[in-house]
Amino acid sequence: MAGVGHARSLEAKRILLIVGGGIAVYKSLELVRRLRERGTVVRVVMTAAAKEFVTPLAFVSLANEKVYDDLFSATDEQEMGHIELSREADLIVVAPATAHLLARAARGLCDDLATTLLLATDKRVLYAPAMNVRMWLHPATQRNVATLHGDGAWFVGPNIGDMACGEYGPGRMSEPLEIAEAIETALMQGARLPPPDGLMPQGGALKGRHVVVTSGPTHEPIDPVRYIANRSSGRQGHAIAAAAARAGARVTLISGPVALFDPPGCEVVHIESARDMMTAVEAALPADIFIAAAAVADWRAAPAAEKIKKDQSGAPALSLIENPDILASVSRGSKRPRLVVGFAAETTDLIRHAQEKLVRKGCDLIVANDVSEGAGVFGGATNEAHLVSPAGVEDWPRLRKEDVAARLIARLAEMIGDERAP
Ligand code: CTP
Repeated sequence: MAGVGHARSLEAKRILLIVGGGIAVYKSLELVRRLRERGTVVRVVMTAAAKEFVTPLAFVSLANEKVYDDLFSATDEQEMGHIELSREADLIVVAPATAHLLARAARGLCDDLATTLLLATDKRVLYAPAMNVRMWLHPATQRNVATLHGDGAWFVGPNIGDMACGEYGPGRMSEPLEIAEAIETALMQGARLPPPDGLMPQGGALKGRHVVVTSGPTHEPIDPVRYIANRSSGRQGHAIAAAAARAGARVTLISGPVALFDPPGCEVVHIESARDMMTAVEAALPADIFIAAAAVADWRAAPAAEKIKKDQSGAPALSLIENPDILASVSRGSKRPRLVVGFAAETTDLIRHAQEKLVRKGCDLIVANDVSEGAGVFGGATNEAHLVSPAGVEDWPRLRKEDVAARLIARLAEMIGDERAP
């Protein structure tokens, strides 16, 4: 996951922290401190049980903000309604997320301010569970976690370790810095949930369409412990998948190993190697649109069955075999989607290489990026894209990857037309 060293990405962000009643609440106090240090605005909501562990005053002092705890407070409701409290946040974090709070959230109960906010939100929720090991492993809790997961929630932890109750196992709440890091990752990916079907404007520009997206790097094993990889973070591909889901499409995201959360509303297939990616893409077709945003490794080694040892003969020679070209094979295959989009990351002659790839790989569109030193695309937050198509080249300004994704999806929706798939 992205390091908390990138403190700027938390600056001026608004976090609504829902605090449940558990002994781990002391870590939530520390979390507020850590977030405030990074310039984050933290509003705190406490459950009745949380107030049995610490007083609201402790959070008021650290957050430097009013603490909310009453669903029926006329004053609070007048100052800031509970819907607004939920909507103005960039992300909702529940820490500690107790077994009872998870159960109420999974059921959609709203019998206090905390659960009402969880039901009224249009953002994804990040839960940091904290409970006794038996409670965590109980099938009822696991069912609730699976339900929340299915609804688009994210989870950080719990960790395995000694518990306050003297037992050992999974159930310890993640450490404040781990939670801050998960918050940073969540914010980086955009925590807005796709609108429910009934709220999608005219059903969404890609409603009824199937979009397949590849994202991230691939790992090509050399032996059981080593692999060949590249610097792709998957941020652009994941943002595209999220944008397509927001536009109402059914999205299959085929992702290499990345340190990102699965985007909301997408079916995600996790793979390691280029050949696995190829198999997963073939299994996902037919589709209306295929977007190859992955940085697929061009070559693989014939992996050794055992770990390669150092010996007198010096460094081993790696003999490399070319990987299948997924993009070219989809675009030339019998199940070719209506629109096929490729990416070209180049360090020299950007447009010429992209135009050549457009033809060689039979694409409708190539999104070209300069990844030469200093351009900072791989792993960065922004992208300066050039849209290369048979019609010509369109230069986009440097944009956040989420904005590149939204623009690209809007463009593809336009290209595929108004006609709706059955
Ligand atoms: N791609 C793919 N399968 C591969 C290699 C690339 O699907 N085995 C896709 C990428 O997802 C991207 C496009 O092809 O959309 C271009 O990738 P790139 O690595 O730039 O192209 P290459 O064909 O590998 O050309 P080169 O490395 O020589 O620039």
